[in-house]
Amino acid sequence: MVVEGKSHRTIEASSDLTRVTIIDQTALPFKFKLIELKSLKDVIQAIKFMKVRGAPLIGVTSAFGIALEMNNDPSNQSLMDAAFALKESRPTAVNLAWAVEKMLEHLKTINAKDRAKTAWFYANQLAEDDIKTNINIGRAGLPLLKQIKSSPLNILTHCNAGWLATIDNGTALSPIYQAVEEGIDIHVWVDETRPRNQGMNLTAWELTQAKIPHTIISDNTGGLLMQQNKVDCVIVGADRISIDGQVCNKIGTYLKALAAKAHDIPFYVAAPLSTVDKKFIGKNQPFEIECRDPNELLRIKGLNSNGIISEVKIGMSNAYNPAFDITPPEFISKIICEKGSYNPDSIGALLL
Ligand code: MRU
Repeated sequence: MVVEGKSHRTIEASSDLTRVTIIDQTALPFKFKLIELKSLKDVIQAIKFMKVRGAPLIGVTSAFGIALEMNNDPSNQSLMDAAFALKESRPTAVNLAWAVEKMLEHLKTINAKDRAKTAWFYANQLAEDDIKTNINIGRAGLPLLKQIKSSPLNILTHCNAGWLATIDNGTALSPIYQAVEEGIDIHVWVDETRPRNQGMNLTAWELTQAKIPHTIISDNTGGLLMQQNKVDCVIVGADRISIDGQVCNKIGTYLKALAAKAHDIPFYVAAPLSTVDKKFIGKNQPFEIECRDPNELLRIKGLNSNGIISEVKIGMSNAYNPAFDITPPEFISKIICEKGSYNPDSIGALLL
C-alpha cells in the first residue's frame, strides 16, 4: 500500500535479519510512525498493546517473534517457550496460533545452529503468502460486488480488515480495492468500532490513502442506513471461523449481521482459510473471547490542541469490554476466501 508516495507493508524484516519494522497502529490516524521490534519481548508487547493487530498480521508478527528469539537462543526450550508466550499474547484470532504452529512444524527438526536462518526464511514466507492470499480473496469477492447494480455501490464495513490488518491488501477491503481499480464507483460506510475505534482510526485512514470515498458512522447508525436503502452489502473480516460457518469477529459484527438479515442485505465475511479452526464446531468453542481492559471503554484517545496524542476519561462506572462476538451461519450470505466464495456451512469442507 502506498503511504505518502512510498510503498509499505505492515511488517518488514531488516536485511541483516536482526529486527522488524512495523507501523505503530496506536498512533494512527494522527501520526504515521514506524517502529522497530528487536526481540521476542518487543513483539509480545506490540501484539498485546495492539501496535499490530488484525488476525493475519498478528499471525505473521508472531512468526517474526520466533525468528527474533532464535537469533537470541535457538535451543528447543527457547523455541517452545517462545511459542507458548506468543500464543498467550492474544487469545481469540486463530491465525496467531496457526502461524506459531507452522513455525514449530518447520523448526522442530532443524539443528539449533541452523534455526535462526530457517526461522527468518519461513516467517518471510508467511508474509509473502499472506499477500498472495489476500489478492485471491479480492478476486473471489469481486464478482459478488459486480452483481450489485447500484452506483455508487454503498458497502458497510466494521472494524479494520484492510491492509493494516494483514501484510498488504487486506481481507474485507481487498475486493473493494480491486473493484475500485476496475472503475466501479464505491462508497464505504465505516463503523467507528468502539471502543478502540479501528474503523474510524484505521479503516478511514486506509481508505483516505487509497482515495476511496467513505463516511465514518457511529456503530449505531447501520440499522437506520439499511432501512433507508443506503447499504448495498456488508463486508467484514474474521478472527476465527468454525467448520460449520460461525464467525467470530470484532464486537458489534453480530448486530450488523442481524440488521442486514432483517433488511435482506447481503452480509459477506472475507478471511483466509488459516482463520478456520478445525476444533471449533457447533457448541464446541475451544477458545476464549478476549476481554480487554475496561479503561478502553472509559477513556478515549485523540489529538490535543498541542498536537499531542492523549487520552481523556469519559466514564466513571464499572465497564465490561469483550472484544469479539460470534455470528451464526444463518446470518452470513457467503464466506469469501482465497479459493472462492462459499456458503458458510461448507467452509469446513475446504480444509479436508
Ligand atoms: O482487535 P483487533 O483490531 O485485532 O480486531 C480485528 C478484527 O476484528 C478484524 O476484523 C479481524 O481481525 C479480521 S482482520 C483481516
